[in-house]
Amino acid sequence: MVSYVVYGRGSFNQLDEILAPNRKAGAPVIFLLDHFFSAGSGGENKPLVNRIPLRGNDKIIFADVTCEPKTTYVDALAQQLKDEFGTISGIIGIGGGSVMDLAKAVSLMMNNPGSSAGYQGWDLVKNPGVYKAGIPTLSGTGAEVSRTCVLTGPTKKLGMNSDFTPFDQIVLDPELIAGAPANQRFYTGMDCYIHCIESLEGTYLNEFSKSYGEKALELCQHVFLEKNEWNEECDDKLMMASYAGGMSIAYSQVGVAHAVSYGLSYLLGTKHGIGNCIVMNHLEEYYPEGVAEFKRMVEKNKIDIPTGICKNLNDEQFETMINVSMGMKPLWENALGKDWEKIMTREKLRSLFEKF
Ligand SMILES: NC(=O)c1ccc[n+]([C@@H]2O[C@H](COP(=O)([O-])OP(=O)(O)OC[C@H]3O[C@@H](n4cnc5c(N)ncnc54)[C@H](O)[C@@H]3O)[C@@H](O)[C@H]2O)c1
Ligand SMILES: [Fe+2]
Repeated sequence: MVSYVVYGRGSFNQLDEILAPNRKAGAPVIFLLDHFFSAGSGGENKPLVNRIPLRGNDKIIFADVTCEPKTTYVDALAQQLKDEFGTISGIIGIGGGSVMDLAKAVSLMMNNPGSSAGYQGWDLVKNPGVYKAGIPTLSGTGAEVSRTCVLTGPTKKLGMNSDFTPFDQIVLDPELIAGAPANQRFYTGMDCYIHCIESLEGTYLNEFSKSYGEKALELCQHVFLEKNEWNEECDDKLMMASYAGGMSIAYSQVGVAHAVSYGLSYLLGTKHGIGNCIVMNHLEEYYPEGVAEFKRMVEKNKIDIPTGICKNLNDEQFETMINVSMGMKPLWENALGKDWEKIMTREKLRSLFEKF
């Protein structure tokens, strides 16, 4: 679990105090800032980049998240920091889910040998990373609380799942997500909604996951269905929904939408939030109530969900997606039970992919 959590409007202003006890003499704090903020956005009065409490030899690095994080990028960032500083006091990720994952991964790679690709899996990481903090600027993925960091490597898209992966500190400041465009906010927000449905409808469900999942679901329903206009209260609630949704899947698992959307993203590079939405749109058979409600949310928020993305693919490409998706065994087992392979056949999965 994350050791320290600060929540509240304006809490970003406490960052200097929060970091002070974690600074080591001569070793800088690295701020990994989402490249979205390089253009000077992120604050009505002062751009976010100018609010970062730099001291000594601290450094800001803009994270390129045009593509979701790759193991090669993680390795390059860690190597750059080792070459320039030897050691660092810590790394602070400020951005969407992609930057959360990059910061976690780079922190681990400062203290573990080899390539991050060698740690994609469960409990392969040997040593704790350097101090790491996460400050989300989009809400929904739950990456701020999870024990993984999803990376695309040479052979697979899989996280470094380990007890060393969670952040030491997170700062949840709803002011930071206020500027997100409605489409992006919706896609990332739906990641949270889908986490709730997959967790609450799954066979791995237990009281821990249920307690958090129900709360996150209620918050998502409030902001995406009951409210008629987006305001500060919505940002406050969506940020807590992401946290609770992440806590829910931490003790259960995701399901059909994620298993299938991983196939899309591996082959086509489809981003996580939008990929989940493309898939969820066609999952009536598995989550009838959740999908009906999802469609009401899409309509109410006037969002476009892309269609026709698989129409020009060949057999080999379908096979690749099916292989990646079928490989997500725990997700299928959570969704469909121990006999999932009898229910979700390759033919059935192919016809599902054809619908996208
Ligand atoms: N570790 C986990 O548990 C976990 C769980 C789910 C998803 N993920 C990962 O999270 C990533 C998806 O995260 P995401 O949906 O937050 O999107 P993202 O981080 O990929 O960012 C999407 C886009 O929004 C921009 N952006 C960031 N903050 C913004 C703001 N305030 N206003 C406007 N634009 C902003 C980014 O620059 C980027 O262009 C994927 O890489 C996925 O694999 C991780
Ligand atoms: Fe997700």
